[in-house]
Amino acid sequence: MRFLAIVPILCCTAALILSFLCLFAGHKPSFMTDYPIVTLNTSRLAEGVVNRTMNSDSNPLSSLWDKVPDSIKDHVDSAASAASDKLGIEDFYQAHLMDYCYGQYTPSELPNATVAASDISKNITGCSNQTAMFHFDPKKIIEDALAKSGTGVTLEDLNWPDDIDKGIDALRIISVAAFVLYCIAIALIFVSLGAAVVALFLSGRLSACLNWMVGILAFLAIGLASALVTAVIVKGGNIVNEKGNPVGVEAQRGNKFLALTWAATGLMFVTLVIWCVEICVGGRNKRRNARFADGKQG
Ligand SMILES: *[C@@H]1O[C@H](CO)[C@@H](O)[C@H](O)[C@H]1NC(C)=O
Ligand SMILES: *[C@@H]1O[C@H](CO)[C@@H](O)[C@H](O)[C@H]1NC(C)=O
Ligand SMILES: *[C@@H]1O[C@H](CO)[C@@H](O)[C@H](O)[C@H]1NC(C)=O
Ligand SMILES: *[C@@H]1O[C@H](CO)[C@@H](O)[C@H](O)[C@H]1NC(C)=O
Ligand SMILES: *[C@@H]1O[C@H](CO)[C@@H](O)[C@H](O)[C@H]1NC(C)=O
Repeated sequence: MRFLAIVPILCCTAALILSFLCLFAGHKPSFMTDYPIVTLNTSRLAEGVVNRTMNSDSNPLSSLWDKVPDSIKDHVDSAASAASDKLGIEDFYQAHLMDYCYGQYTPSELPNATVAASDISKNITGCSNQTAMFHFDPKKIIEDALAKSGTGVTLEDLNWPDDIDKGIDALRIISVAAFVLYCIAIALIFVSLGAAVVALFLSGRLSACLNWMVGILAFLAIGLASALVTAVIVKGGNIVNEKGNPVGVEAQRGNKFLALTWAATGLMFVTLVIWCVEICVGGRNKRRNARFADGKQG
């Protein structure tokens, strides 16, 4: 028996669970929807329209403006929120690895005298269907919502910057690669777990070496997947914030998701370290055992 192999078994099991959670977080509104990769806050998207409508007499969007109640037309915040509802645009859209979810901020979109910013929480109302190779396309999501609303308002009316799409397009291939890497990583971590269980009943360098070899592949896969997702979040988030903030779109990083995926990577690193120790110590044990046997004979 090799009792030190229990550590890799535990680490691989935990890493396997964490990787699965990364892949399936947010697959329905009640399952880990606070672990998105990135959240797009579109609650102020209608504000630009409202601003322009309030400050001009010739109104290209009167069909929409007519639907906003007279009593709140003087208040940008409430008018924007009402316009947003009429347009069918949700307060936020959050991307997961295989789908996206959407919903409303409760109790209100913006903090005011009675509602502190920390009291505002997300109320997820729905999620898209899960698909492999999913990539987050906010332009299409909002276009579809606008088309469904029947107000005749288009993305151009909302001043949607083309640069957001260019930035997000560039990241599409990376999101698909990240998805594939998570699948590969899950398979390799599973193999590592199996190999560690077998190694528990063996001793010597060979089994430790084999485990180390499988382990390093699993570590590279999950590490690369984590790095790619981190790059997508940081790069995509910066592009969206730079181009989107002027029209009321804001991206927020999914720090909890990052914690999850890097924790899985860390666990696989611990596994590698243990097998390294086993390769060194395992050989020495064997020599010691051999000497012990010699001594008994002599
Ligand atoms: C709308 O106008 C307010 C001031 O009236 C300004 O603070 C806000 O940034 C404007 N929003 C957009 C999206 O242009
Ligand atoms: C703040 O927002 C909440 C929720 O929309 C609303 O009920 C409340 O009246 C607002 N308070 C003020 C002072 O505007
Ligand atoms: C969340 O949204 C649903 C449907 O829109 C609503 O029934 C529910 O009361 C909301 N929950 C909170 C906490 O506001
Ligand atoms: C999602 O899946 C359900 C059932 O699997 C299907 O009825 C529905 O049309 C799908 N929705 C979309 C947008 O593909
Ligand atoms: C959403 O974004 C707006 C600016 O676009 C910001 O004022 C607001 O606080 C954000 N809401 C949340 C809940 O982060």
